[in-house]
Amino acid sequence: MTLDRLAFMGLRNLASLEMAPQPGINVIVGANGSGKTSLLEGIHILGMGRSFRTQQLKHAIDHGEQAMTLHGRLVGDPPLPLGIRRRRDQPELEMRMAGERVPRVSQLVEALPLQLINPDAFRLLEGSPSSRREFLDWGVFHVEHDFLEAWRRVRRALKHRNALLRRDRMDSRSLDVWDHELAQWSERIDSLRYAYMDAFLPVFEDTLAELLPLPDLSLRYSRGWDRQRTLAQVLQQGRESDAQMGFTQQGPQRADLKLRVQRRPAVEVLSRGQQKLVVSALKLAQGRLLEMSTGRTCIYLIDDLPAELDAEHRRVFCRWLECMDCQVFITTVDPDVLSGVWQSTTPVAMFHVEHGRLAAYGLKDFTTE
Ligand SMILES: Nc1ncnc2c1ncn2[C@@H]1O[C@H](COP(=O)(O)OP(=O)(O)O)[C@@H](O)[C@H]1O
Ligand SMILES: [Mg+2]
Repeated sequence: MTLDRLAFMGLRNLASLEMAPQPGINVIVGANGSGKTSLLEGIHILGMGRSFRTQQLKHAIDHGEQAMTLHGRLVGDPPLPLGIRRRRDQPELEMRMAGERVPRVSQLVEALPLQLINPDAFRLLEGSPSSRREFLDWGVFHVEHDFLEAWRRVRRALKHRNALLRRDRMDSRSLDVWDHELAQWSERIDSLRYAYMDAFLPVFEDTLAELLPLPDLSLRYSRGWDRQRTLAQVLQQGRESDAQMGFTQQGPQRADLKLRVQRRPAVEVLSRGQQKLVVSALKLAQGRLLEMSTGRTCIYLIDDLPAELDAEHRRVFCRWLECMDCQVFITTVDPDVLSGVWQSTTPVAMFHVEHGRLAAYGLKDFTTE
């Protein structure tokens, strides 16, 4: 997918920004505090309905404004305009696609598949399982169309079951009903996640091999409940203990991705730098798999790559991005450190942000000397 137009108003320090990004690599250069991350944040809000910097979207609104309005246009026939508005005094997000109001953020997410690579993303391996589940489900959602419906049903059943577990007296009849619903949709979620990981694994291994050969690394999907039993059995047999805890202890809400090196958790064995490369490979592989299975490319938002990867790995990483032929927004304080990384004659569009204002300063042809 490709954005050919962005227009942001009232977003942090970006004074009514307009931008015509290029289909390939867009480098955003600027001093600290100029607004580079805010620009990526705007694209992220447009595609995900939420920020990666704050839980509360109102904090992203310019201090001096009452609302922020973000517009983007996806290339296509016809082009697809996207819009988001958030007012300071109203918690609801107003979302539009092709001029029409859309009720669900999942419609935006589907239209604009985004991959964010920033310092937080690099902590994927050491973070909580929820961040790895989010990573996994991004892929499943974009590849398997009925994932969202199954997930909604699981969430609903879990909510009801947990509420019943917290009651003073056990209502076995009602629990039976929700256990059944939960088990049924959880098995569906599990089979979709499992199939996705099956396809993902070889792409990940292939991507990682060029960044960092780690033959001992294994990646395994863990579904969140006993391997020997069905979830229906687990729920039935665990009811008393769940009631004591006040929540459902096993199920797809506990799924995780286990990365190990020689049977030990990868975070305990790999250096921080190596972990960043593993995360890079995970993120690149997801984009590759999306393209392989749906023909759609995702848009990469990469915040300050030079600060995260050394020169040699930056080069390999960027080569993958070029190979994937997708749109990339990459920020940096120093444009020179990105100048040697592009292998081919891919045109690289350069933009400069200064005190919240944007200026394009042309296409540059970076080839390795
Ligand atoms: N809600 C807001 N309203 C106005 N300015 C803000 C808001 N939030 C942050 N800023 C300012 O926006 C500037 C840009 O921040 P940022 O995008 O992180 O810069 P960069 O990534 O280029 O270092 C900072 O100077 C920050 O103080
Ligand atoms: Mg920044």
